[in-house]
Amino acid sequence: MEILDIKVRKIEPGDLFYIAEIEEKVFGLDAFPFYYLFELYEKCRDFFLVADYKGLTIGYIVSCIENQSLHIHSVAVIEGFRGKGIGRMLLEETIKLAKSMGIEKILLEVSTQNTVAIALYEKFGFKRVGMRTNYYADGSDAYIYMLDLKENNSQHVR
Ligand SMILES: CC(C)(COP(=O)(O)OP(=O)(O)OC[C@H]1O[C@@H](n2cnc3c(N)ncnc32)[C@H](O)[C@@H]1OP(=O)(O)O)[C@@H](O)C(=O)NCCC(=O)NCCS
Repeated sequence: MEILDIKVRKIEPGDLFYIAEIEEKVFGLDAFPFYYLFELYEKCRDFFLVADYKGLTIGYIVSCIENQSLHIHSVAVIEGFRGKGIGRMLLEETIKLAKSMGIEKILLEVSTQNTVAIALYEKFGFKRVGMRTNYYADGSDAYIYMLDLKENNSQHVR
């Protein structure tokens, strides 16, 4: 698979069913239900991006502007396509969009156990700024990460 075959684009309504399926498979009890994904689509579609491989929805990221910051609500890549730079592409595009709109901060929650996602965020310069205990359905905790776009050039560093 050539990374060149993958494009990151704005969501289209038909993507939502595939995204709901991926959410459920990847996040289980913590998955957003379809109605909530639809709500995010209605409210935050400028920041709802999908990774498209030859017409197939293989990943997505959805973020909303809240209190003048951008909050990343969900990001996932389907299993067979992980580790190929797609998560990075989705995050890069989100950061680019946020900068173009003059947003100064990006926030997200990530499971304290999710070393892969944490590595990805830290490579973009996200810093751990807090914790939410008992955040997930199984009672596990989340870290809060923040990227300050005012003081960071947000280049992914290998
Ligand atoms: C987190 C996730 C979106 C990353 O997407 P991806 O396409 O696999 O990630 P990339 O290939 O773009 O990798 C980007 C960085 O992530 C980290 N990473 C990716 N795969 C990794 C692995 N197997 N082990 C450790 N770090 C890894 C690395 O830091 C990597 O940077 P590098 O390529 O310079 O080494 C994907 O693993 C996923 O969907 N996971 C399940 C859902 C999830 O956990 N979402 C995050 C919720 S907060």
